Amino acid sequence: MKIIGGPASQLLASRVAKSLDCDLALCEYKTFPDNEMYVRILDDVSQDAVIIQSTATDSDFMALLQLIDACSSAEKVHVIIPYMGYARQDKQFKPGEPLSARAVARTIMADNVVTVNIHENSVLDHFYCNTIDINAAPLIGKYLKELDLNSPVLLAPDKGAIDIAASAALEFGAEYDHLEKKRLSGDTVQITPKNLDVAGRDVVILDDMVATGGTVAEAVSMLKVQGATRVYVACIHPVLAGSALIKLYHSGVVDVIATDTLEKAVSKVSVASLIAHTLKGL
Ligand code: R5P
Repeated sequence: MKIIGGPASQLLASRVAKSLDCDLALCEYKTFPDNEMYVRILDDVSQDAVIIQSTATDSDFMALLQLIDACSSAEKVHVIIPYMGYARQDKQFKPGEPLSARAVARTIMADNVVTVNIHENSVLDHFYCNTIDINAAPLIGKYLKELDLNSPVLLAPDKGAIDIAASAALEFGAEYDHLEKKRLSGDTVQITPKNLDVAGRDVVILDDMVATGGTVAEAVSMLKVQGATRVYVACIHPVLAGSALIKLYHSGVVDVIATDTLEKAVSKVSVASLIAHTLKGL
């Protein structure tokens, strides 16, 4: 098995290679003067090839397509997309819109595709090959266990993220709940946990991704008013667009914890062991 780290997932790919004791292929990435991307795998890839590349940007996606093509002579190609961009565009909201997630999935030619906490499981149905989605939430729970938190409570920002909170809470050994938004008047909303009280407790808000930070920052400010002692934010995918981190810290967050599906300064938890374990089973 040869591990090929795409430009967006070089660190994660090297961690997976180390964990599996496999070769990490030497690759070259550069940009032509007209801004097109040049990709080259400098090692032999006639055996099983594992391409690891998140696709947060269009150029990351383009790099993935080129890497797959460069592996055409490999016996098998396994594509790991730790964070899959466009996965939130999984429905047609207005006439004339594409299902962007489907458009992306249909371009990936591989023997197996592995994703990590993909935004919607239904997106996996659009790939033309076998797919596996792995759940990194227990790794976040394990990390939280090491922090010295006081009477902690784990909160999903909405009902849709409750499964992630539940599986992290199982490992963490804490209570969990989800937040509910109530409209009090034309311009006032209240965000509170559905069942639990946060007064005097440390709180961790856990979502699949933090993009602009808007969803979580609003909740943090309100939880502080409701008496939460310290508020942490955790997510699987730290997309962190624009000034998301500033927004979070400005709202009173103590720390932001994420995985390395996207390689950011807050990526304190590695999903390498999960990916390695999944690859062993293929
Ligand atoms: C939404 O369904 C997702 O699970 C996240 O809650 C959302 O994408 C976060 O976006 P933002 O950080 O921009 O509020």
